[in-house]
Amino acid sequence: MSQGRLLSAVRASGELHLGNYLGTMRQWVAVQAEKDCFYFIADLHGLTHLNAEYSPAAFAEARLRTVAAYLAAGLDPARVTLFLQSAVPQHLELMWYLSTVATKGELERVVREEKKLALDAAGASASLFYSPVLMASDIILYEAEEVPVGDDQREQVEIACDWAKRFNSRFDTEFAIPRALVPATAARIMDLQRPSSKMSKSGGTQGTLFISDTPDQLYAKIRRAVTDRGRHIIKSREKPGISNLIEIYSAITELTATEIQDEFLGRSYSDLKEALAEVVVSTLGPIREKMLEYLSDPSLLAEILRSGAQKAQEIAEGTTSQARVALGIRPVFR
Ligand code: TRP
Repeated sequence: MSQGRLLSAVRASGELHLGNYLGTMRQWVAVQAEKDCFYFIADLHGLTHLNAEYSPAAFAEARLRTVAAYLAAGLDPARVTLFLQSAVPQHLELMWYLSTVATKGELERVVREEKKLALDAAGASASLFYSPVLMASDIILYEAEEVPVGDDQREQVEIACDWAKRFNSRFDTEFAIPRALVPATAARIMDLQRPSSKMSKSGGTQGTLFISDTPDQLYAKIRRAVTDRGRHIIKSREKPGISNLIEIYSAITELTATEIQDEFLGRSYSDLKEALAEVVVSTLGPIREKMLEYLSDPSLLAEILRSGAQKAQEIAEGTTSQARVALGIRPVFR
């Protein structure tokens, strides 16, 4: 049986891309055999950046597309607990309790450090300011041992642990304190058209390899990827375009950059692009197909999410009721 519990979450993003696959999805799938994994789509966190273009219908759809993509990438619903954050109302309740021991100064500091730009935007939402407390609740609810996060979220996990410890010492609770797992080296996958920026869903469709792209689209985008002066296939600062193609090839095949340079010694940029397109298509192609299958079966998705939420709620309720009772707000009637 699985060892410790591991908790992780992602925001619902409309279209997942190769960077998401190599950065997160693949890791989620890889650890599912070893750990008791609780994974959720952080849809409540997705509400902190509403703007004039926000579409509730598109958001509702994005959540399901994200679930379908993760399942298609190989998450086994019989093994992992997969759910939507909003389906477990204890996230919001425990957030409030934890906020009683979090100080305004701490919140300002962590938000300044990790969400600086967004918070400085005119009309930035108070929900954004408060989101580290919601994240703390996410982390404490499930008695997890490990919380894998990107380097940019380390601080938030640490402060969540501080709040949980403080809560335990002031009140009669025994919240489990997890630890952040930050991957030593994450592949940095850049936009194919602008190799100075990270590949992202908002980066423009030509530079981003989406999981939902057809093989033809993937080939076309890779063939059109910007390259650099010269013709040698080497990873270097002066060659951001070629370096990115090498980086992607390396992340998929697990060959080192040096091995790839040797393999392509004396060959052309277009040879590298063809080889890369082939490995990208053979990785993403089957995922796209399975994703479409899941999306064509909404009742299956609903059933997976229902049973995930049910399992999650059982544990979340245990933690939340500890907090309620400790604070003296246990229910007076039933
Ligand atoms: N904040 C994370 C992100 O922006 C998602 C997230 C929300 C998360 N709650 C979490 C990650 C709890 C790990 C644990 O991607």
